[in-house]
Amino acid sequence: MRTILFLTTLALPLMAQDGGQLYGLYCSACHGADGKGATGGQFPPLAGSEWPLGNPDRAIKIVLHGLHQPIEVSGKTYNLEMPPQGAALPDDQISAILTYVRASWGNKASAVSVDQVKKVRAATANRKDHWTAEELLKLHPLENVKPPLANLISYYYKGSYQSMPDFSKLKAAAVEEEPSGLIDYSSYANTDGFAMVWEGELQTPAGKHEFSLDSDDGSRLFVDGAVVAEIKTIGPTGRTVKKAVDLKAGVHKIRVEYFEFSGNEGLSVGVKFAKEKRMQWLSKEKGKASGKSWPEIMLAPVDNRPAIYRNFIQGTTARGIGVGFPGQINIAYSADNLSMEMLWGGSFIDAGHHWTDRGVGYEPPAGETVFALSKQKAYAFASESATAWPAASQATTRFRGYQLSPQGNPTFLVEVAGARVFDGYESVTDPSPSLLRTLRVDGKPAQTVSLLVHSGAHEAAQPESFTVGELTVRITGGKFRYGTNVVMVDLTSPQAQLRYSW
Ligand code: HEC
Repeated sequence: MRTILFLTTLALPLMAQDGGQLYGLYCSACHGADGKGATGGQFPPLAGSEWPLGNPDRAIKIVLHGLHQPIEVSGKTYNLEMPPQGAALPDDQISAILTYVRASWGNKASAVSVDQVKKVRAATANRKDHWTAEELLKLHPLENVKPPLANLISYYYKGSYQSMPDFSKLKAAAVEEEPSGLIDYSSYANTDGFAMVWEGELQTPAGKHEFSLDSDDGSRLFVDGAVVAEIKTIGPTGRTVKKAVDLKAGVHKIRVEYFEFSGNEGLSVGVKFAKEKRMQWLSKEKGKASGKSWPEIMLAPVDNRPAIYRNFIQGTTARGIGVGFPGQINIAYSADNLSMEMLWGGSFIDAGHHWTDRGVGYEPPAGETVFALSKQKAYAFASESATAWPAASQATTRFRGYQLSPQGNPTFLVEVAGARVFDGYESVTDPSPSLLRTLRVDGKPAQTVSLLVHSGAHEAAQPESFTVGELTVRITGGKFRYGTNVVMVDLTSPQAQLRYSW
């Protein structure tokens, strides 16, 4: 018996890596054993996704350094964070996993060699941050994505039009082929007084398909030579026109006319095929209301008082509380997990979805830079495992709501192990725009309590500061303690202050 065990352990490193087994260990928790995305599709699928196919460098980079910020996979947008795995997985295991992913669940792409992984690892050795989809698309565009419109040609006309001109009487100043297959005016964006026409071909199944058109200023959509939708006058986007059209299976001629008088521009054209739930966009712009069927109601602080939003926020738990502070600093606090789970810059949140639609589903932050901070119960005893955050913490906790200061800044109140923790937030601009978080402990907990500050990759781990990508978190009146992929603070002093800046 002993000899056999001994032989097995010896033999293992020599054996070829089993990609399927490794996938089960390192990827399936999030992407699903069937590749369809875990937790009912909250995570992006690898089955049928274009991202792991084609040039393997794209997927190797994602596995090595992780991925964050919005990504569109098979027509659906996700805005989550995939942790980097480069440190945990050697080259041969990454090669085996990706070879498996590229040949499973109907995916068909070539094997990924160990050498290829080695090359990419060496070339990206200095990289610190996660990748973004936008960055990767510039380096490695998706190969197999069929352009939405075939044989697309654009015509550009210079002139000050307040209604749709008669194009038969005009001469185009520029005619271009558009291999992207997307209706896109962006080369003329921010110039006033022009009109454009696009002509291309759309392959459709048989059925009643719903076309959608929105523009700033006017636009007109033709299918097979007939006007289907029209926005005649000058005005902003948000005047979406939808029209169902019965079409035979096959190729149909699409023509879009557009004029821009002055001010903002905007043009979105989409089609929702019969039996499909999703809009397929034929334009680069997905419309201000990207697939949304509700008007945008952008929330923002009023009179320098933070705006509070209590509804489903994508990236945090069901009982998420969003706070938009002055200075374009926003957070989502989870009343389930008792901590700030997300921090983002820029716009706060579009409430249109939930307010007008009694909407189902989660609304993502409206801002650009989103930092995912933690996604687990935030309190545990300091005596519990220090290497990884305790999954089943022994500390009893209770959310006691929040108070607002006279300026409108929230302090969340948590009862933990017999003490009370006041977790307060405010934005400051001096010396640079930052979020200040003040942790005050009232009473004495049964044992020393630790608070999870961040779970996931981080760098520059110092007692007084760490970074997550471009975000720097500093503490005064306490020290950070680090475990495997977690940052915590032991609540030993009556007050500690954290400063988040980027
Ligand atoms: C902790 C969860 C998690 C694990 C583990 C994980 N991923 Fe991901 N993965 C994600 C998330 C979340 C995204 C999307 C990130 C975003 O929104 O920017 C993603 C995106 C991707 C993408 C691009 C989008 C797509 O769906 O095609 C690929 C490819 C990918 N992951 C491969 C892998 C592979 C291979 C593994 C295992 C080595 C793995 N991931 C492990 C969460 C995870």
